[in-house]
Amino acid sequence: MNYKKIVTKIAKELENTPNKGKVANYIPELSTIDSSKFGVHLTTIQNRHFNFGNANEKFSIQSISKVLSLSLAYQLEDEKLWKRVGVEPSGTAFNSLIQLETDIGIPRNPLINAGALVISDILVSHLKNPKEDFINYVRKISGIETIDYCPRIANSEKASGYRNTALINLMKSFGNIKNDIDVVMDFYFNLCSIEMTCKELSQTFLFLATYGVSPYSEERVLSKSNSKRINAIMQLCGFYDEAGEFSFKVGLPGKSGVGGGIVAIYPNKYVIAVWSPKLNKKGNSFKGIQFLEKFTTETEASIF
Ligand code: DON
Repeated sequence: MNYKKIVTKIAKELENTPNKGKVANYIPELSTIDSSKFGVHLTTIQNRHFNFGNANEKFSIQSISKVLSLSLAYQLEDEKLWKRVGVEPSGTAFNSLIQLETDIGIPRNPLINAGALVISDILVSHLKNPKEDFINYVRKISGIETIDYCPRIANSEKASGYRNTALINLMKSFGNIKNDIDVVMDFYFNLCSIEMTCKELSQTFLFLATYGVSPYSEERVLSKSNSKRINAIMQLCGFYDEAGEFSFKVGLPGKSGVGGGIVAIYPNKYVIAVWSPKLNKKGNSFKGIQFLEKFTTETEASIF
């Protein structure tokens, strides 16, 4: 498969189509990004690399990091995890409060904000130095020592995180948050602030294309079955109330973030990361989804 040729062809086609998305501005620091940025990076399980555009520029991966916090929490808690968070698609926006009241504080899945806050609480309970230990975990599985949090973005979100504060308080009232709210929120905002390039993102997620083994640390990060399950959760919940549409158009498990990044996994083949900051109405990268739809169409390959 000539990935370089296909990636370049689609990216060039998209340069000439209108971008109807809008950069996220509810986190003030995110709105300062140059919205014309566009990058793609594909890493195969044989460690071959193909890219286009701004693939080596760091951006805020935001909710994409929720898959990494979930992976670590799953490793630490195993099946006990599912007592506190579900595995069902929510069909609602990433920061919605609606279902939490009727679901007595148990989030539908770990990839919506409420679910990621519960996962953050679990990690705060397990880890001695939560922020330090977590970033070291990400560095280990990716083999990239320079991956880090962005304090500027974390502080900006902390200053404007009213909905997340509402979500965590509601869950605390139901007893599904065990630690001090400020400590969990600080961990969560830092988690969302992690910066990576498209290349780094595709490398970091490779363990989900290799059934749980990090090709960089050569360690098993997840059991084969748990790796399958995380891919299944991404397939059903990775794009919130657009998860069906992403599955329908692209046909790969994936995860988006409001920084405009998307990572998609083809188990046993590759991981592809796309970055384009303008978002559609559901909070997912407008051109990122268009690119991936064209990519699986041109390559005639998806998991289905
Ligand atoms: O908590 C928030 O709202 C953001 N830090 C992350 C949201 C996000 O990336 C949703 N993804 N599309």
